[in-house]
Amino acid sequence: MTYPKRAIINLFEMNTPGHITHGMWRLPGNSRHRYTDLGYWLELARIAEQAGFETIFLADVVGAYDVYRGSADPAIREGLQIPNNDPLLVIPAMATVTERLGFGVTFSTSYEPPFAFARRMSTLDHLTEGRVGWNIVTSYLPNAARNFGLEEEIPHDRRYEIADEFMDVVYKLWEGSWEDDAVVLDRERGIYTDPAKVHAVDHVGEHFRVAGPHLSEPSRQRTPVLMQASASKAGIDFAAKHAEVLFTADRPPGALRTNIATIQDAAVGHGRRATDLKFLVMATVITGDTQSEVDEKLRQYRSFSSAEGKFIHQSVPFHPLDHPGDITVREALEREGRSDVIAAGGLPLHLTIDQFSIAVDQAWDEKQFFAAGTPDRVADTIEHWLDDFGIDGFNLRQYHSFDTARDFGRLVTPELRRRGRLAPAGEPHRSLRNGLFGEGDRLPSRHYAAQYRRR
Ligand SMILES: Cc1cc2nc3c(=O)[nH]c(=O)nc-3n(C[C@H](O)[C@H](O)[C@H](O)COP(=O)(O)O)c2cc1C
Repeated sequence: MTYPKRAIINLFEMNTPGHITHGMWRLPGNSRHRYTDLGYWLELARIAEQAGFETIFLADVVGAYDVYRGSADPAIREGLQIPNNDPLLVIPAMATVTERLGFGVTFSTSYEPPFAFARRMSTLDHLTEGRVGWNIVTSYLPNAARNFGLEEEIPHDRRYEIADEFMDVVYKLWEGSWEDDAVVLDRERGIYTDPAKVHAVDHVGEHFRVAGPHLSEPSRQRTPVLMQASASKAGIDFAAKHAEVLFTADRPPGALRTNIATIQDAAVGHGRRATDLKFLVMATVITGDTQSEVDEKLRQYRSFSSAEGKFIHQSVPFHPLDHPGDITVREALEREGRSDVIAAGGLPLHLTIDQFSIAVDQAWDEKQFFAAGTPDRVADTIEHWLDDFGIDGFNLRQYHSFDTARDFGRLVTPELRRRGRLAPAGEPHRSLRNGLFGEGDRLPSRHYAAQYRRR
């Protein structure tokens, strides 16, 4: 590791007008509604590379949020992750205008089988020369299940069991199916690929049957950088075995430090090193040339923030905005006749509606990494989190396109570089994995996937 510890900064994005900064698409000058234009992504990629970001990290969901008010209408009205477009398809365009920027892309293991996805990711790894990562999710929206022919969501831990088998299949395809020197391109003998070096995978499991061989030849990283965000026991077990980059929403210092240590210990139990995993937190940065400029941006940020958006996104199963602020959540549920929700547990019934609203709000903003200040202040906070909480970096929420990324690049990036906290500008191209870990393009031999490699 370089000293002082360098920050990994991802720009947290989604192919949609309203990702996780609800209501912000209405901010003056915000270009979020241009997400359907290729030009949006090209401009974003250039800004992100200039700012020294490690990746543009694209979230994704394959359903609409329809738990709050029992309908998708509120989400549709708010532009909250719907409309949304496929995140994989914007990556090649962004790769053509950048040289070192990485791309993290979200794909769910719960609904589409692994074979076609493995080929798509190999294609992206080829086209980007090894700059892709995969955010492995199991999908939490009930509507997503119904979009893929299921009556209801697959139970949580079962989803992780399926995900685990999904990983076996893709590892077999990515790591084991093609030997490195399979493609010979021998024009004289008319041999494109040596068939003896391409292997079927013949996977037969509980959920998937895949014959192989993989259709893509080996790409620079073979397996994309494996990213994940888990909170549950099943999710953490999965991450400890597979993930290389982890997004956490835990609160510092207690929960954050404890959970990092728990996952690192579990990873060591899988024969990995604690340093094989990087931990990133979600971050909001509001900065400007002067404190009064920052104050004005913060005022605007707060005034455009949508309370209802947060209830929709968190699938709150009742209507807090319909009740006076001083009654408890339990009383509100009773007034709505929702004894089923009371019985199901999970909601803080003793809180008042006002307290509950603040708690939901803070889950997004101020209890996470939230730095509103001039660049030196922001850099101080970043250093504090890197050094004192054991994290490796940040997923910067882009609440304003493109001011969030541009402000960061213009003001905070130079300050971080001056302090040795960000890689200097102009470093040569490297794969995403090599840039993150400095141990080459491919998964280390101590990773679970390595067992599928041909000796
Ligand atoms: C920063 C962050 C980003 C996430 N991005 C997505 C996403 O794009 N799509 C998705 O379906 N889930 C996403 N999730 C949800 C996680 O995949 C995961 O389901 C959640 O953290 C709960 O953990 P668990 O699955 O272990 O219960 C994200 C979570 C976090 C903290």
